[in-house]
Amino acid sequence: MTIWTPDIEHRDGPLYRAIADAIATDLAGGQLTAGERLPTQRVLAGELDVALTTVTRGYAEAERRGLVSGEVGRGTFVRSGPEDSPLSPGADAPIDLTPNHLGPWAHAQELADGIARMASRLPGAGIIDYQPLGGTERQRAAGAFWMDRAGLAARSDSVLVTNGAQHSMAITFATITNPGDTVFTGKLTYSGMKSLAHLLRLKLKGLPMDGEGIEPEAFERACQAGPAKALYCMPTLHNPTGVVMPATRRKEIAAIAAEYGVPIVEDDSYGFLLPDETPLSAYANEAYYMAGTSKSLAPGLRIGFLLPPASMVDRLKAAISSTTFSVPTLMGDVVAEWIFDGTADRVMAWKRSEVAERQRLAQSLLGQYDDVSHPVSQQVWLTLPEPWCTSEFVNQAAMRGVLVSPAEDFIAGRAPPPHAVRVCLGPIADRRRLEEGLRVLADILGQPPEPCQVVV
Ligand SMILES: Cc1ncc(COP(=O)(O)O)c(C=O)c1O
Repeated sequence: MTIWTPDIEHRDGPLYRAIADAIATDLAGGQLTAGERLPTQRVLAGELDVALTTVTRGYAEAERRGLVSGEVGRGTFVRSGPEDSPLSPGADAPIDLTPNHLGPWAHAQELADGIARMASRLPGAGIIDYQPLGGTERQRAAGAFWMDRAGLAARSDSVLVTNGAQHSMAITFATITNPGDTVFTGKLTYSGMKSLAHLLRLKLKGLPMDGEGIEPEAFERACQAGPAKALYCMPTLHNPTGVVMPATRRKEIAAIAAEYGVPIVEDDSYGFLLPDETPLSAYANEAYYMAGTSKSLAPGLRIGFLLPPASMVDRLKAAISSTTFSVPTLMGDVVAEWIFDGTADRVMAWKRSEVAERQRLAQSLLGQYDDVSHPVSQQVWLTLPEPWCTSEFVNQAAMRGVLVSPAEDFIAGRAPPPHAVRVCLGPIADRRRLEEGLRVLADILGQPPEPCQVVV
């Protein structure tokens, strides 16, 4: 029998916490199962070559997080863990692969503890007063640091703290467009952009895309054909396809935008998964760059950072004041603290490796239907083989308990959607359950569609 040995090599922080983190990760990933007995503390200390007290503290920490329970004389047992948590539904619930986020499960308790610590340190006045529009100096400095590392020269006084990427988009488009204006985007685009276009009465013009993102020739033709107020794009890990635009394509798009005076609105919500990609905004003449913490950290800790052209900062502050006013102090301060003390880096590093594992699993089961998703995309884009139609596939998957999003949810304007679906790999904590869902999809695609109820 092999004994479970936690991988604590690449984890930062004290060793005892690394052991508890590894238990959380392996429970979420299915390497540990409910009811399983962990190795005795002495055996594990020998395996890891650490002091017995380190393992004792590690198990105690895991017990405090509700991951294991110790029974005197019998040992330490894995509890049902993530399946019981509000983050994951029970076994009878559908496997919902529609929301596009990955919970930082291995770090959930550590993050909750961090918030409690910060809350107790906040000065009374910080809680009572409104915060400055666009964030406090420290929050904006954290945003500038984040952007600087992404490859954008940002000063804290040109970064705005918002209530998430969606809020950054809303205030940007409300400021730079008027009802009836046209905004360019990929033929497939983030559904939040579609909804915002409806709200602001904008026309979205979807541009053809290939395996490298928006096609430059099509962009140029569209610029020649008529004016547009902006190009909205997601060069790194496009939602929904998971495509990454190479640097040469970014430069071409930036050059065309500059030639026709079209500002670029770059949504880099998933850029943290590929930190070495230089944002398109770095090559652009006029850009609004936005990133947020709901994907990179957790949706419950949702703030956004917006880097607009310097001349637009005051107008965007006014838009913040007409929409949500400042971000809640606690959220802004917690995120700033975690960016500076390295907590955010550790969470993002965990996410990168978890997403890569999940993508490998998905490609092993469904790779023949997906030739665009990047290896660290947290979604797969399945092009359905003949004779499948999207609605039939989505319905059959739902009947078998797996929910996925049809291409139509992402189509800009009224172009006919391709026969394709988006499958998100992040929302289910338990990797075995994710695999179950992906196997159902592979099984369905391996057969012709079932006859369905006739509509008369
Ligand atoms: C591309 C993209 N942009 C923005 C958002 C919204 O992010 P936030 O929660 O930071 O507003 C999402 C959420 O799914 C997204 O996929």
